[in-house]
Amino acid sequence: MVSYVDYKKVPLKYTGQFRIFDEAAFAGMRKVCELAARSLDELIHIVKPGITTNEIDHFVFSFGADHGALPADLNYRGYMHSCCTSKNHVVCHGIPDDRPLREGDIVNIDVTYILDGWHGDSSRMYPVGIIKRAAERLMEVTHESLMKGIAVVKPGVHTGAIGAAIQLYAEAERCSVVRDFCGHGIGQIFHDAPNILHYGKSNDGIELRKGMIFTIEPMINLGKAEVKTLKNDWTAVTCDHSLSAQYEHTVGVTETGCEIFTLSPKNIFFYQI
Ligand code: MF3
Ligand code: CO
Ligand code: CO
Repeated sequence: MVSYVDYKKVPLKYTGQFRIFDEAAFAGMRKVCELAARSLDELIHIVKPGITTNEIDHFVFSFGADHGALPADLNYRGYMHSCCTSKNHVVCHGIPDDRPLREGDIVNIDVTYILDGWHGDSSRMYPVGIIKRAAERLMEVTHESLMKGIAVVKPGVHTGAIGAAIQLYAEAERCSVVRDFCGHGIGQIFHDAPNILHYGKSNDGIELRKGMIFTIEPMINLGKAEVKTLKNDWTAVTCDHSLSAQYEHTVGVTETGCEIFTLSPKNIFFYQI
């Protein structure tokens, strides 16, 4: 049974219901999401050839600590790092390590902070030095598919319309949409109902209502859509080893559309060198 509930009236754990948030919640989300966006802005100056993904991870932790926020990733289901760093053919959940990034790599950095109990989740792609045109195009297509998905969000529309808009655009650009991961409800819980699929039909899924908050985070591949999980049980990579990209925003449904909580204060969400 589909049910929408006042977030103040349900326990702080996954119940499968769709929480409806009020203005106070939106204010909390604005704060934490802006912090996540600012950390991603700062990372533009840090991501360079020679830097390791562990150094990126340490920055994410200390930037949060400096602003009273904890990374939601840390200790989440046994995950031992502050962010995910997914490079080249890695689709998502790349684990930071001591290997330096190299000129020509593209890397997704995915940050979620918790501040005053609210979660702000966002990710962007970073070029490492000069990258190939194909990699740059994949980043452009992925960012645009996220924005196409966001553009359809408003009360009365089904979650499937978001996926349909993303799939239509990405496939017209001869790219493929990863099916194995989705966007998610978020708020005082990191991963909540509903699931936001990045493919499908406009009438699929549940109807959006004002006050819902969720992420949209399409993973788009240059080659085929199939992914497999590495032996660390976290990291997903493309089966055909083709490049993969992802962008993620946290949004809240308003009367007429949505508010993008994780927009870059410096307006540099899509960054090219
Ligand atoms: N930030 C990811 C998301 O977009 C989740 C990462 S969970 C972790 O939903 F444990 F891998 F960090
Ligand atoms: Co994320
Ligand atoms: Co997310």
